[in-house]
Amino acid sequence: MQDYAHITVEPASRNCGAFIAGIDLKKPITEAVCREIHAALMRHQVVFFRDQDVTPLEQTTFARHFGPLRIKHRSAFELHDDTPEVSVIVNDRAHPPYIDHYHADGMFRAEPEFASMLKAEAPPAMGGDTIFVSLTAAWNGLSDALRATLDDKIAVYDFMKLHSTPEKARNWTGPSREGMIKSRDENPPVQHPLVPKHPVTGERCLYFSESFTASILGLNKYESEAMHALLTRHCAKPEFQYRLQWRKGTIAMWDNLSSLHYAVADYWPDTRIMHRLTILKDAIGMKGAVAAE
Ligand SMILES: [Fe+2]
Repeated sequence: MQDYAHITVEPASRNCGAFIAGIDLKKPITEAVCREIHAALMRHQVVFFRDQDVTPLEQTTFARHFGPLRIKHRSAFELHDDTPEVSVIVNDRAHPPYIDHYHADGMFRAEPEFASMLKAEAPPAMGGDTIFVSLTAAWNGLSDALRATLDDKIAVYDFMKLHSTPEKARNWTGPSREGMIKSRDENPPVQHPLVPKHPVTGERCLYFSESFTASILGLNKYESEAMHALLTRHCAKPEFQYRLQWRKGTIAMWDNLSSLHYAVADYWPDTRIMHRLTILKDAIGMKGAVAAE
């Protein structure tokens, strides 16, 4: 087991997630602390911090330790007025939640974001959990026969696979329309390995999501559709998951290559407000951090 000198790390489940304690994110943190958080993230795919009453500016200051942040344009989500790296995700009676699908952020991009960080600003009194999936556990959980079939496959990932669905239609009208068109035009379908080797841990990840994986090259249309349905069901197995119950001030940070997430939409019409940012590249991993053993 990795020894952590500066933080405590409590696994949330055997395959996915860990809670990190012993840290106040309102205060400056050292590089040594960041390296330990990074090691925990690499080992558990997603890490959680409780009771962190940080402002959007403090959230971005913390996140920048791990890499440069995406400067967003207004599309599906509002941006924070003073901190435009932070998306303000508001779901309420007038804005029903439609993020109840398994995905990793940025899968549809030529260069997907390394990580995302979500803070519960105003969670609902009941419901609104987020389910996280370990894609290393999902890959290891397939049979040898299916792994042999998928091992070297390339898949097509498409922004419009999700955003052309009827549930997302409201984003194509009103103030978000211009941003959606820009996102669509900037993100034509791209290809990625279906089972990439993680650049830090060396582990294989089943880089698949029901929302953005459009097809698998080398399979015919019917085989690809059937494989999509099979992998969608496979990734939804509870054995690969951890379901986080948010409290105000809970922060989750996840690795977008080795995990999926799903926002459970059982709280509507109550209100749920979250602050999200994305980290473009893994600054610590690129320096040669070694994942926890
Ligand atoms: Fe997401």
